[in-house]
Amino acid sequence: MFRRWFQRTTSAQAGSTGSDHLIDLREIVKTYQSSAGSFTALKGVSLQVDRGEFVAVIGKSGSGKSTLINMVTGIDRPSSGEVLVAGTAVHKLGEGQMSVWRGRTLGIIFQFFQLLPSLTVVENVMLPMDFCNMYRPSERRERAMALLEAVEMAENANKLPSAISGGQQQRVAIARALANDPPILIADEPTGNLDSRTAEAVFQLFERLVGQGKTIVMVTHDNDLARRATRSVIVADGEIVNQYLARALPRLSLDQLINVTRQLDRLSFQPGEPIVRRGAHADYFYIITKGKVEVLVDHPGGGELIAEVLGEGQYFGELGLLGDGTRRATVRAAHDNGLVEVVALDKGEFHALLAASEGTRTDVQRVAQQRLAASGA
Ligand SMILES: Nc1ncnc2c1ncn2[C@@H]1O[C@H](COP(=O)(O)OP(=O)(O)O)[C@@H](O)[C@H]1O
Ligand SMILES: [Mg+2]
Repeated sequence: MFRRWFQRTTSAQAGSTGSDHLIDLREIVKTYQSSAGSFTALKGVSLQVDRGEFVAVIGKSGSGKSTLINMVTGIDRPSSGEVLVAGTAVHKLGEGQMSVWRGRTLGIIFQFFQLLPSLTVVENVMLPMDFCNMYRPSERRERAMALLEAVEMAENANKLPSAISGGQQQRVAIARALANDPPILIADEPTGNLDSRTAEAVFQLFERLVGQGKTIVMVTHDNDLARRATRSVIVADGEIVNQYLARALPRLSLDQLINVTRQLDRLSFQPGEPIVRRGAHADYFYIITKGKVEVLVDHPGGGELIAEVLGEGQYFGELGLLGDGTRRATVRAAHDNGLVEVVALDKGEFHALLAASEGTRTDVQRVAQQRLAASGA
């Protein structure tokens, strides 16, 4: 009986939005209309974030970072596409449902803190609990004090926001964001208005929260901080740079990453299915975005041998493109890992890229030479 109830509940949850990800943005287009005409701030972006990730969103001013995370919080709505967050289709919520859902699911932190100036620090932290009717009224002050304790602001509990520094206000804003114990924190340039020492302290607080199981998406201008997140998402001109491309070819410039991202074809392969075959004509360069592939070479005693297994963010297919134009090895989707996904760049685009990026050419040639040496050719 218990078992059946349990199974039904889990399948209903999994099926409610059809997403395995905590945050799943699908093909989001956002067009703003104004008297000057229309402007497309997001051009069909997709982004998935899993539980426990700490994602930094970076990119130039005006690239669409705030627009992107405002989709997650429901502060703004997509013109088309789907926003699935913690099992809820956010783009389908009405205004009333939205604010209660948001208050329970997300903690939101802004660059300019946005504490209510007429409320004390502790009252600001209690506000989300009052608004969403979370925790018993008699517990709320105590909980707010515990949160202020955690951000080392308890001694300022009865002050007005104007009486404390910017860094202190941001700590209070973080305590407020945690009021309803939401699984997700969304922060838009939370350190943008802080000096570097204070910014470091706020960032360390985020790191600690991720350690405690929170999922954080943080827009930042600070590349040093971004590197310490578990993953960076680069937004440029309303598009997201392919993260596997950025990982595979890290010496490409931002403009090159954006251009190449647009040229990539996405392909998927069944377990065991060949992707390139030895002796065939070489016409694509591949980067693995999901799963593993096996590189097969001829066994000296006959048959084939797995020479190498490659995973996400690694590439293959460069040997044939750099050499005589034929594939030197067979590469197939690994048997034990479900569907394998890759992005592919065609031969002409691959050579244009190496011509444009000296550092990338050096890197790719070095990998190619190591692979040739390892295969004994
Ligand atoms: N409400 C709006 N109406 C019209 N254009 C907007 C609006 N909000 C943002 N934009 C435009 O969309 C682009 C992306 O803005 P934004 O997401 O705020 O960028 P970022 O956060 O990366 O600096 C900018 O060109 C901005 O001018
Ligand atoms: Mg912004």
